[in-house]
Amino acid sequence: MDNTNVKIYSSDDTLPMELAAVVATAREALNDAYAPYSNFLVGAAALLENGLLVKGSNFENASYPLCLCAERVALASVHSQYPSIAVRVMAVTAKNPKQKITEPVAPCGACRQVLLEFEQKQGVPMQVVMFGETGKIIVYESAAHLLPMAFDHSFLSD
Ligand code: THU
Repeated sequence: MDNTNVKIYSSDDTLPMELAAVVATAREALNDAYAPYSNFLVGAAALLENGLLVKGSNFENASYPLCLCAERVALASVHSQYPSIAVRVMAVTAKNPKQKITEPVAPCGACRQVLLEFEQKQGVPMQVVMFGETGKIIVYESAAHLLPMAFDHSFLSD
């Protein structure tokens, strides 16, 4: 990975103001996680181009394959309420009551695919911010950097 695509901050206190707000909102979203099966709470927050912050958290089900990831809950919420407003930043974090998460949390492959398509659709980069309960915060400048050689709409065009 080309390092110009990534920024690393040592803690919340060192973040620029705009990123600090979206990071704090993702941490708040942990409180809304419904994860009785995995006990792995995930919080996400989207910062929209108009300054609004939209939360998402994971939403599990006894029928395990129906579990929804926090990032996709956040994006679906954004798209249903503000379909034409770009997401400039997506922040994601997690909390495990049994073991403190000290490393940044990485979005799963399915979420990367959905983040990428959302970014392609809006036509402007979406930064992706990853962090744990403590420790460093990693910022990727674009969702595209998280999914090299992606399958996308271009394969389906006429
Ligand atoms: N999870 C997310 O919410 N986002 C991810 O990117 C990775 C996984 C959730 C799904 C499930 O509720 C729990 O974390 C354990 O996999």
